[in-house]
Amino acid sequence: MDNNSVAFIGLGYIGLPTAIVMANAGLDVTGVDINEANVERINRGEVTIVEPGLEEALLSAIESGRFRATTKQVHADCYIIAVPTPFNDDYSVDMKYIYSAAEALAPKLEGGELVILESTSPPQTTQKMADRILELRPDLVADRDDAVQTDKPVIYFAHCPERILPGHALEELKTNDRIIGGQSKVATQRATKIYASFCVGELLPTDDVTAEMAKLTENSFRDVNIAFANELSLIADNLGINVWELIELANHHPRVNILQPGPGVGGHCIAVDPWFIVAADPENSKLIHTARLVNDGKPDWVIEQAKQAITEQEDQQLAILGLAFKADIDDLRESPALDIATRLAEEMEGVNFLAVEPNITELPKRLRGFDNIELATVEEAIERADTILLLVDHQEFKSLSQDALRNKNVIDTKGLWR
Ligand SMILES: NC(=O)c1ccc[n+]([C@@H]2O[C@H](COP(=O)([O-])OP(=O)(O)OC[C@H]3O[C@@H](n4cnc5c(N)ncnc54)[C@H](O)[C@@H]3O)[C@@H](O)[C@H]2O)c1
Repeated sequence: MDNNSVAFIGLGYIGLPTAIVMANAGLDVTGVDINEANVERINRGEVTIVEPGLEEALLSAIESGRFRATTKQVHADCYIIAVPTPFNDDYSVDMKYIYSAAEALAPKLEGGELVILESTSPPQTTQKMADRILELRPDLVADRDDAVQTDKPVIYFAHCPERILPGHALEELKTNDRIIGGQSKVATQRATKIYASFCVGELLPTDDVTAEMAKLTENSFRDVNIAFANELSLIADNLGINVWELIELANHHPRVNILQPGPGVGGHCIAVDPWFIVAADPENSKLIHTARLVNDGKPDWVIEQAKQAITEQEDQQLAILGLAFKADIDDLRESPALDIATRLAEEMEGVNFLAVEPNITELPKRLRGFDNIELATVEEAIERADTILLLVDHQEFKSLSQDALRNKNVIDTKGLWR
């Protein structure tokens, strides 16, 4: 039972850095992706995502002869799957990417291989992936500690969720602790060996379903705690209290650590993963569900604030500072700031909006159809605008002087100028 060759399926934000780090740690890695153009670029040594240090790491992996990308499924001792897991309209997971990866690798199995699911998944997803593979390969069985003896060759299944921070991927891939959830003791041992080849963090053994739930729990913890801060910000506003001061004072209690409010929660993890818990057990996940609603409702409140700040005067200019889903990145996925900008442009036709997003060079697609919004530099926007709506605490906004903001209506959703 070797672990020497790895097929990494899905070369996106998670798969590409992980596959490269594994190859540079000495494993023989084939990256498999359905995106032909990206596969070609990767084989030419071009990175397809923004990640510091990744290009150098890719070049050295290619030079070592231990990494190549392909669109065709290969045989390997170990398969690792990191394909997208979006949700359906009813918030259950859309299994189509996992199933198509499973269907492509099933014919390659010979017996003895380890199949690891890294995609963030609801409880029982690893089992569903294994079921799909074994439906296609009835000549094989899953290794289970409680299974009855059989002559059929076994396949080992595990779930090992990923928790790296984009922008710090190469460092965190090596240093973060990892949860290793095998469907059997041997599956956990084999998966542990793979991750030990490049990860110096603690490797924490458990079963697959607990591992799936652990990843969702981490992101739900963040979501619920941000919802608490967001709810406080509404209450404080009603009572005429500065929420930033309030939280700072409360956090002096030795056992209190309230997070910071904002314009809502975005991104493809914290705003998505709690729904998988809600869909798995709606009856018992009332707090997690409510937190999602509180965070998703915060943009409505921000939009109301912006509308109130605009006077009846003609030719009003409103600067929107930040469109990304968090500070100092260019990622607009599920961004509440982008939602707020879109809805403001839609609902307030008479106002001219100056959107400032230092990490992009052109107006995002969703905003291009409006003739009352343009991309501006921070200096230009501050100079021209009557009202400043701060949505993201980018570095570029932190250094703005109080002088520049004098005589402006300021709505600060991140507490930068508290
Ligand atoms: N990006 C993050 O910060 C992060 C962090 C932790 C966990 N995750 C989870 O990791 C998983 C992957 O996320 P991502 O951000 O890397 O996604 P991504 O969209 O950046 O990349 C997914 C890749 O999978 C490829 N793909 C889709 N179907 C395929 C198939 N059948 N065979 C081969 N390739 C296929 C796509 O072409 C794409 O390149 C998701 O479940 C996500 O929730 C992401």
